[in-house]
Amino acid sequence: MSDAGRRDDGHSITLTDGTATRTREAASVDLVPVQDLHRRCSLGSRALRYHAGKSGLSPTEWRQLSSPERGTTLVTAPAERADHIIAMTNVMGTDQRGVGELAILVEDAWQARGLGTALAEHAATVARREGHHSLAATVAASNEPMLHVLEKLDARPVGATGSVLDLRIPL
Ligand SMILES: CC(C)(COP(=O)(O)OP(=O)(O)OC[C@H]1O[C@@H](n2cnc3c(N)ncnc32)[C@H](O)[C@@H]1OP(=O)(O)O)[C@@H](O)C(=O)NCCC(=O)NCCS
Repeated sequence: MSDAGRRDDGHSITLTDGTATRTREAASVDLVPVQDLHRRCSLGSRALRYHAGKSGLSPTEWRQLSSPERGTTLVTAPAERADHIIAMTNVMGTDQRGVGELAILVEDAWQARGLGTALAEHAATVARREGHHSLAATVAASNEPMLHVLEKLDARPVGATGSVLDLRIPL
């Protein structure tokens, strides 16, 4: 069984600078390190993730994101510092059968080292395993890093609302 196939297993990603990381499914007890991740992110990064001026996640929001009934949330930490969460990846269910919704937040200090690209690939594996046939992503048209990440997964635009693009990734 692959790393992605077991609930308790971590998935290894080595960044372009050689740093080893582990990505695992989130649990409700991760609320505090996930809130810390949000606090360390810039306003700009949080705005690109949530399309709103959001300072962090409330306990209620985290309960929803970490609830297996709603989808899969993954958290990433350096291999040497398991309690320090540096990225959150969400593959959430939608009201469309077979369509998951992908979102990623990488802490500013850890961006541009290949983590977002690797997390998107891993999220596609997770989504396939969960029976989805495609992933939807909502991305600001100005968000070049995320658009680069999604291009590598053959994402195509299916609509737009103002300056926000709706993309579909076939799985
Ligand atoms: C988008 C995001 C997830 C990408 O994560 P990342 O770890 O930086 O991704 P990578 O290091 O794999 O880089 C992806 C691409 O963006 C480019 N990139 C990364 N940071 C960049 C920056 N600050 N400026 C320009 N390009 C950048 C990389 O060069 C790479 O392009 P390439 O594949 O053509 O070389 C991350 O920037 C992030 O969390 N942003 C804030 C939240 C967000 O935008 N989420 C997406 C909406 S759901």
